[in-house]
Amino acid sequence: MGSIKKFFPYFKYLKRVWLHFGLGIIFGIIFSLSSGLGLPLMAEIAFPILFDNSDQAPEWLRLVVEKYFSNNVTGGFLLLCSFLIPAMILVRVLSGWANGFFMNYAGIFVVQELQKDTFSKIQNLPYNFFKNNQTGEIIASVLNYPNEIRRVVVDMSNDIVKQPLTLLAAISFLIYKSFASESFFISVIGILTVPILVFPIRKIGQYLSKRSRQIVKEGESLNSLVIETIQSPVEIRAFNLEERQIGRFTDILNRIFRFTIKSIRTSLMISPSIEFVSSLGFGVALYLGVQNGMEQGEFFALFIALYMAYGPIKRLGQMHGLVRQIEAPLNRVDTILNLKEDVCYIDKDSSDINNLAIQGQIEFKDVTFAYDDGLTVLDTVNFSLKKGSPLVISGKSGAGKSSLVNLILRLYEPSSGSIILDGKEIREYNPYVLRKSIAYVPQMPLLFKGTITENIRLGNLKATDSQVIKAAKDANAYEFIQRFKDGFDTVIGEKGSTLSGGQRQRIAIARAFLKNAPVMIFDEASSALDKKNKAIFNTCLENFADKYIVIIDHDKESLPEHYSILEL
Ligand SMILES: Nc1ncnc2c1ncn2[C@@H]1O[C@H](COP(=O)(O)OP(=O)(O)OP(=O)(O)O)[C@@H](O)[C@H]1O
Ligand SMILES: [Mg+2]
Repeated sequence: MGSIKKFFPYFKYLKRVWLHFGLGIIFGIIFSLSSGLGLPLMAEIAFPILFDNSDQAPEWLRLVVEKYFSNNVTGGFLLLCSFLIPAMILVRVLSGWANGFFMNYAGIFVVQELQKDTFSKIQNLPYNFFKNNQTGEIIASVLNYPNEIRRVVVDMSNDIVKQPLTLLAAISFLIYKSFASESFFISVIGILTVPILVFPIRKIGQYLSKRSRQIVKEGESLNSLVIETIQSPVEIRAFNLEERQIGRFTDILNRIFRFTIKSIRTSLMISPSIEFVSSLGFGVALYLGVQNGMEQGEFFALFIALYMAYGPIKRLGQMHGLVRQIEAPLNRVDTILNLKEDVCYIDKDSSDINNLAIQGQIEFKDVTFAYDDGLTVLDTVNFSLKKGSPLVISGKSGAGKSSLVNLILRLYEPSSGSIILDGKEIREYNPYVLRKSIAYVPQMPLLFKGTITENIRLGNLKATDSQVIKAAKDANAYEFIQRFKDGFDTVIGEKGSTLSGGQRQRIAIARAFLKNAPVMIFDEASSALDKKNKAIFNTCLENFADKYIVIIDHDKESLPEHYSILEL
């Protein structure tokens, strides 16, 4: 059960709901005691008296009936027994309900805590993480896998305490009896066949683990496909890709079906094989016991001990299978939670973080850069950027312009060379503060679902309405916003889908202006604008004489001549 160790770190999530969790376990124990001991016990000890078989009832009960009920079993004693049955059932159902409630309470809590942790972790991971992991995988790690981990951590907690205890009690009883009687000892040898079960159960576990990796992988591809399809309704229709997408979806589903059925076929074999091997052991025990002169009473005791041990062994076998099955999702979450974070947030309450007060230059010194695939994108790039003297980066498509900007934002690190800000390597700055000091309009700006005001205000969450309006005016967006029925309160669809390309760009520019950061980077920020609007944008830049400005533009002729130019 080495694989169960991996779950230990997740038990920490139970700390904050320990009371609910503890109550859940206690009610679970009450539930199983009242089910196991309640009615069967009554049937065994009280019924013989009621049904005229007093000699089979225990001595103490016979005395009680004699003393308190004057041996009248159809009067008060019958009433008491009749009352006890619903009373015990009531204890059973109430404790069953409470067990379910508290366990679910703790379980849902664990899921959400785990989801919060995974989601926060993802926010703080290096940008590279998103390039290296499928969207489907990330979404499953936040939304689905925590639920599966809960299944083991919480739902099994009942059993993790109860089952081994029962098993231990049964085994202790067997050992104790073995010391007392030789024939019992010999008979117990027969049961030693049962542990050979460990081998098939381990094999089954390995098989389930392999299948679960396949199911997880296919499930993630399915997620990614659905997301891709939902995000590209235009492309799918314009290129008549509907059938293709449906075909791919069905293919993945078919594979998941195949793997899941195989997994179910195998996991369902655990219980029957335990049952069969146990019966073999029982047969051998009977044979050896009787041959060695075992008495009926002893054999009956052996039978009860085996019966007690049988349940836990079966359950532990099933648990082993389940643990192996969710090993793959667990590994996914585990990997994410253990990745090294990129952004080290400053304690926001203790100090109001200001922009960097940059005075000197931003310099690239012999900067060389390659993505993971190894192809050199930037080769010994040198330039310096001064306050009030905008730099235009141009060059053919794929020359590495956007990549260069990513380096300034520290989304990636240079392969060699250094980027110096105010005389200090940029990697010495906290990325949070560095990015706070940069207003950036990406090549393909995304807007969030919400109103136009909300989207612009992302530049500075504390900005007043009039500051938002001013930024919109500066970005030449005010006019078209005013034309919308709801003006600044117009709700824009996810990713800004209800706006035109140029409108989207101008809102992204307004957002950057509102940020009022010392460094401003515009990656083809005016590419979707017409000539007139582009000219307005370029004139507007003249207002930022105290800023460090980087403009990526294909059409450098449209920009003032005094701007410095870096050709890539
Ligand atoms: N995440 C990435 N992983 C690997 N290679 C990348 C990645 N992003 C870009 N590239 C590669 O790096 C090179 C430079 O890309 P970049 O986006 O910087 O070009 P660009 O100059 O901005 O082009 P454009 O004018 O078309 O926007 C390209 O060859 C591209 O294939
Ligand atoms: Mg680019």
